[in-house]
Amino acid sequence: MKTLKYALIGGAAFLPAGAMAAELNLICSADVVICEKLVSEFEASHSDIDVNMVRLSSGEAYAKVRAEGRNPQTDLWWGGTGDPHLQAAHDGLTAEYKSPMLDKLQDWAQGQAKTSDYHTVGVYSGALGWGYNKDIFAEKGIKAPECWSDLLDPALKGEIQIADPNSSGTAYTTLATLVQIMGEDEAFDFLKKMHANVSQYTKSGSAPVKAAARGETGLGIVFQHDAVAQAVEGFPIEVGSPCEGTGYEIGSMSMIEGAQNEESAKVFYDWVLTPEVQNMMPEAGSFQIPSNASATPPKEAPDLSKIKLIDYDFAEYGSAERRKELLSRWDEEIGSLPLQ
Ligand code: F6P
Repeated sequence: MKTLKYALIGGAAFLPAGAMAAELNLICSADVVICEKLVSEFEASHSDIDVNMVRLSSGEAYAKVRAEGRNPQTDLWWGGTGDPHLQAAHDGLTAEYKSPMLDKLQDWAQGQAKTSDYHTVGVYSGALGWGYNKDIFAEKGIKAPECWSDLLDPALKGEIQIADPNSSGTAYTTLATLVQIMGEDEAFDFLKKMHANVSQYTKSGSAPVKAAARGETGLGIVFQHDAVAQAVEGFPIEVGSPCEGTGYEIGSMSMIEGAQNEESAKVFYDWVLTPEVQNMMPEAGSFQIPSNASATPPKEAPDLSKIKLIDYDFAEYGSAERRKELLSRWDEEIGSLPLQ
């Protein structure tokens, strides 16, 4: 508990000066702009709860929750890809919670809850692909890739960035997607060949397309909505959707087992699943498909019905064994290779 520094005057939600505010320790695993927007909107409408937010990529968030173990400092984990949320559920690190909002959500968001015995829930969805800088491609005469296989084009040497799947849910989704499309050995073979074109494995999943937008690299393998966000900002980014098919995320949210501020966590949890809150996401440059069935998908959001999506096996690729196995193979066979 801590004392509010000032009292809010006017409006429905105000707290008298000196009153004690409850706390909420939140990990946010989406883009920092949407994280900050959610926190400021939540605090404006809930002056009795102070939010301490830390932004971490999906894999880093999982590692923090795991390290805190039986002495959790975190109450709630919002956003980031679903696989590490499922792994956390499997590891007993997150708590069962059935929000009163649950039956208002899309089937895929409720499916994520059922898969985890209600230890996580879907908050948004989006498909994997890439964003490339069309000015750089035109200048260097590089052909725009249409398929995963096109990413092996030697003309792309040093032009690709993708995140490290240990820290990033985007990159783990890419790894699991390629394994599901090609088979595991073939996917690792593909990643070894693609490594010749990779200049950097970043920590955060959306960093590669931000770098492409600024002209620092030609192409970033990212969620398509993150490429759209750069195009909407006015950068010369084209969005690509692989011809062989692609994976997608069910961005998720989990309450932490043994949370010190469980009541505050439930208030945020229920609030963030409302259509009103989900409809604010585009204002912060977030163009995922919202999970509340009454929320309006942003007009800029890639239309999932027009993208060749694979039947991504969330239960298998979010399982602790499979995730650990794939990440350690990635470390041995890809992460250990010198960058060109
Ligand atoms: O907020 C953008 C976003 O791509 C989300 O859709 C996704 O859940 C998250 O970032 C993944 O981030 P990272 O790859 O850094 O874990």
